[in-house]
Amino acid sequence: MDVTEQKRQVGKYAAGLVEDHMTVGLGTGSTVKFFVDALAERVNNEGLNIIGVTTSVRTAEQAQSLGIKIVDLDDVDEIDLTVDGADRVNKNLDGIKGGGAALLFEKIVAINSKKNVWIVDETKLADPLGGFPLPVEVVTYGVGHLNTLFANEGLKPVLRTDAAGETVVTDNGNYIIDLHLDTIEKPVELADWLSKQVGVIEHGLFINIANRVIVAGEEIKILDRA
Ligand code: 5RP
Repeated sequence: MDVTEQKRQVGKYAAGLVEDHMTVGLGTGSTVKFFVDALAERVNNEGLNIIGVTTSVRTAEQAQSLGIKIVDLDDVDEIDLTVDGADRVNKNLDGIKGGGAALLFEKIVAINSKKNVWIVDETKLADPLGGFPLPVEVVTYGVGHLNTLFANEGLKPVLRTDAAGETVVTDNGNYIIDLHLDTIEKPVELADWLSKQVGVIEHGLFINIANRVIVAGEEIKILDRA
């Protein structure tokens, strides 16, 4: 099964976890796109009655175009279940997220959810975390100085640009600095340090957030937080 097929498989599987009258957090990314497609099918074919809260403009547009009702996070008390993708996941079910530059809203939605499920293909499993740049969302003002600070700490920062070479601007008007670390041996410590730096809005280390990770493959694997 190729990676795209794996993404479709877990997306569809996760859509089956959604129950009537749930408020559902909708993540961002190519795997979640399959989840939203499959969820919309259930809404339209089975009459599944749900409300969605999204983590990006992209996902909101997709969900609404398929007939899923979207409300603002502040219009709901709590989210029952959030389904999101991840860029890397370790054995503790901690991960790197933000490859799609949506980490800030993804983290806000996640911490307001009773249950967080990540859907990933097999390539995302990595222990220790690594093999994917760690995104850090930063204020645009003084970004060069923050970049220098990260470089001096040996964090190998690169300001994210798009295919046309333009600096990527997030849905919130911020920049992303990607830290090109080979491996992250101490994610908790790095997360703490990043959170303390002035100008950092949020980082892509998601610690103690996912309750369950669903891994695609010939047989779907369910990993639950201990
Ligand atoms: C977006 C994310 C995505 O969930 C993550 O990048 C995984 O994306 P994909 O399913 O396309 O591999 O964190 O900010």
